Amino acid sequence: MNRTRTNDRFTRTRNGRAESGRGGNRFGSSATSRSGGPGRSGGYSRRPAAVQGEFELPRTITPALPAVEGFADLDMPGALLGALSSQGVTVPFPIQAATLPNSLAGRDVLGRGRTGSGKTLAFGLALLARTSGQRAEARQPLGLILVPTRELAQQVTDALAPYARSVRLRLATVVGGMSIGRQASALRAGAEIVVATPGRLKDLIDRGDCRLNQVSITVLDEADQMADMGFMPQVTALLDQVRPEGQRMLFSATLDRNVDLLVRRYLSDPVVHSVDPSAGAVTTMEHHVLYVHGADKHTATTQIAAREGRVIMFLDTKHAVDGLTEHLLNSGVRAAALHGGKSQPQRTRTLAQFKTGHVNVLVATNVAARGIHVDNLDLVVNVDPPTDHKDYLHRGGRTARAGESGSVVTLVTPNQRRGMTRVMAAAGIVPQTTQVRVGEEALHRITGAQTPSGIPVVITAPVVERPKKRGATSRGRRRPVSAARGASVRQSTAGAAA
Ligand SMILES: Nc1ncnc2c1ncn2[C@@H]1O[C@H](COP(=O)(O)OP(=O)(O)OP(=O)(O)O)[C@@H](O)[C@H]1O
Ligand SMILES: [Mg+2]
Repeated sequence: MNRTRTNDRFTRTRNGRAESGRGGNRFGSSATSRSGGPGRSGGYSRRPAAVQGEFELPRTITPALPAVEGFADLDMPGALLGALSSQGVTVPFPIQAATLPNSLAGRDVLGRGRTGSGKTLAFGLALLARTSGQRAEARQPLGLILVPTRELAQQVTDALAPYARSVRLRLATVVGGMSIGRQASALRAGAEIVVATPGRLKDLIDRGDCRLNQVSITVLDEADQMADMGFMPQVTALLDQVRPEGQRMLFSATLDRNVDLLVRRYLSDPVVHSVDPSAGAVTTMEHHVLYVHGADKHTATTQIAAREGRVIMFLDTKHAVDGLTEHLLNSGVRAAALHGGKSQPQRTRTLAQFKTGHVNVLVATNVAARGIHVDNLDLVVNVDPPTDHKDYLHRGGRTARAGESGSVVTLVTPNQRRGMTRVMAAAGIVPQTTQVRVGEEALHRITGAQTPSGIPVVITAPVVERPKKRGATSRGRRRPVSAARGASVRQSTAGAAA
């Protein structure tokens, strides 16, 4: 149950990493060829955690303000309240009801809430409300949201855009893999709020295109992943540049000792809102572990992908993702690959195609595991079982969001059983386990698996409505699909990570 904690402490036991127990499969994954590191390449890898073990929530000295019942009880500009109702957001989710009174009052916040529980608006509304009415000077944003991946930066921008527009605040997205010149232009023109991955923001600062000394509110979303990806030195270097007396908020579904330093050094008397660490699971989510024979796994995966509805399939390596995607396309399944080895425009396009239903199956590495929201997605499949319980929670968290229901299915071969049992225990989840064989009813019942058409498909780019010409300056310029949005929120056309 969600609750705001003030003076009580508790600890979280974090087990050591489960070993992979994986020895490669027909899609080519193996434990030794994980995706490449973050940074310029936009790849993703998990560095060995510097510190593992218990995470101790900080003490709150000044008592927290009580939770509110409705958005109208909050001290927010009327325009923001209007935007909430026009977006159909009528009742605050628990993490919003608990943290917003405090974040709107300027308190630092540490928020640990389950996947899909509404953390983006929890920090976003406070940031926008407290910044509204101010105007940023060129290159000097007033608020900063740091996130680990390019996709998440774009999504946070998209999620906050209608609210920012309502209070006339300008957002800029600053991420690697896209034109740095355009991002510099957006900052030069003035952006109150910057949504950034750490590497690209540092580059812009080094070029003299951005200064953080006017930033009064800083948010770290998915801080533990930034630590896991090795971004901690960059994150702390950035935090050292914002206004020292400013407000800081740190949100994630999972926190561990790798963020202790951030919490201790940068949060001051924070209000802590945390779901029980042992209850990281979302109640509307079903967890299935399907025991499959190695010989059946390839066909089972293909048949699951051929189901009626959409599905995200997670694998460990870029190579395995590409291999499975190609196989699915040849089998008649509308699939697309997302990983750090793709160019950023490709990554952005693939995610957009999946969100609009142009492709049915998103085959991805962990780059798609955090924060990404896709409406009406009711199945996530771990083709490669995750070796870390946080990865399990975040991958699975792409379904059963915002109170919807959904299933997470993990395919486990005999030699992976022990590792998977350990991951589930660390995640505090007791899954339904089923031995499945291809062609048996159970596989169809749990996943909707069916035989694919066998007629190869080619995914063509959907026809995009061209923006109307708006005068000489825009002539000939092409904008990515995701950049087409309302007039008053100026955004860089950045795509996504590092
Ligand atoms: N008060 C609300 N009422 C209805 N829908 C909401 C509300 N708050 C958020 N949502 C919706 O819930 C969905 C999930 O929200 P969000 O992406 O912020 O979750 P999250 O907690 O950040 O998850 P994750 O840990 O996976 O990043 C979004 O589609 C968002 O629009
Ligand atoms: Mg989120």
